Amino acid sequence: MVENSQIQLVEKPTTVNLNRFVKPIDINKLVAQYGTPLYLIDEDTLHAKAKELHKAYSKFKGQVKVAYSIKANFTPAVVKAFMRDGIAFDLTSLGELYFIKQCKADPENVIYTSVTEELEEYIEVLQSGVRRIVVSSFNGMANLSKAASKVGGGAAPLTMIRVNPEVGVKAEVRASYRNSKFGVPFNGGTIDSAAKMIKHLMGSDLLKFEGFHFHLGSQITDFSCYTHALDKMDAFIIKMKKENPAFQVNTFDIGGGTPIFYNDPVPTPAQMAENHIGKLNQLAETHGTSTLMIESGRFLVAESAILVSRIVNTKEYNEHKIVIVDAGYHILLDAALLKQEYPQEVVPVVLDSKDKTTALATVKNTHLAGRLCDTYDVFPLSKVSNLSESEVGRYVSFYNVGAYSVVFNMPFHCQTKPPIVMKDSDGKFRLVRKGTTHDQLFREEGGELE
Ligand SMILES: Cc1ncc(COP(=O)(O)O)c(C=O)c1O
Repeated sequence: MVENSQIQLVEKPTTVNLNRFVKPIDINKLVAQYGTPLYLIDEDTLHAKAKELHKAYSKFKGQVKVAYSIKANFTPAVVKAFMRDGIAFDLTSLGELYFIKQCKADPENVIYTSVTEELEEYIEVLQSGVRRIVVSSFNGMANLSKAASKVGGGAAPLTMIRVNPEVGVKAEVRASYRNSKFGVPFNGGTIDSAAKMIKHLMGSDLLKFEGFHFHLGSQITDFSCYTHALDKMDAFIIKMKKENPAFQVNTFDIGGGTPIFYNDPVPTPAQMAENHIGKLNQLAETHGTSTLMIESGRFLVAESAILVSRIVNTKEYNEHKIVIVDAGYHILLDAALLKQEYPQEVVPVVLDSKDKTTALATVKNTHLAGRLCDTYDVFPLSKVSNLSESEVGRYVSFYNVGAYSVVFNMPFHCQTKPPIVMKDSDGKFRLVRKGTTHDQLFREEGGELE
């Protein structure tokens, strides 16, 4: 045991309310039924976030469309929840398109932004009835044009150009920097530039120019990059209009990036929108733009999910305590990749009213580690993490894990995928993804071919 003199209590979280949508008593019941690790998702949070993001841009003097970037979490139950909100879907691959089709989402509600931009890919996209496509290279645009001529029938695809505004972005993940792989510069000196691609599109019978798209990064907390990107966009459109007065931009898509809380408080979507809504309205008025698209992965899903893990081992030395849980970066990759500080909390013990408990203190230097035999499998703590009472057998909840977590599940150390349980809007819990087994993994890895 640790001497009292060595004990220091972790400060109680004060500033941020974590989304504790499952009561400890229900967590205990769910882990008894499904085991740990276990992801829990709250449907109500998904709807609330979709509403909040849309409302944030309500001062836009045109139509606002929110598109869910399903790369953040493609669990069919999540996709179906957002279908009930009537929002659009931002897709990047044929695999994601397959998921959307299986969920019976309306292809009219899809915006497709590929990195690969292959001819066969675009043929399948158009055959599926998707009409809104973002191209990111001259070759991609030529492939879309060929695909449109092959597929034929119906109206020309609404074609947007993904520009790389080459602005400085202060964010956890940056997508706009000079010579980035995404989009094309306004004027790059080659055919891979928005200026050249617009000329081609304006003369095309097969594709209809619809507007511009940019995506600056993820978890953006300094919004000046949006202002800079929109200023550059404005100047570029003015230049294009001088060359061709018929040039019209119907849609602006300003990509994703809306941040969520992990370690430090972040601005709300309303505060974010306040930063650039004036510029967006000015652009819309000057250039006749009727539609604004806001893409989001992280903001829409992150706070909807908790990962529950079990403490399986602890050890103490040199005033440090190592707490080992049965989770790891194989199910929470960004903890290792981005050093993401997911808030963690030991799940309170559910007591009978007559039971008494003595609170266990936290050792000063508590480290939360995963089950993998890898140096990087240690979870950074959030400022609001509370690991008091971290004893073997207790459960630890990781909050705000709904984005970029289940989509990265991997079998390192022959680990299986945890099940996912959704708390539906009626308050009932429902299994929405089964966990996988070692037997399934063995067969997937070719075990049955030997
Ligand atoms: C084109 C595009 N749009 C939207 C997003 C979603 O970003 P976020 O999760 O930060 O909202 C991404 C993320 O990579 C993206 O590449």
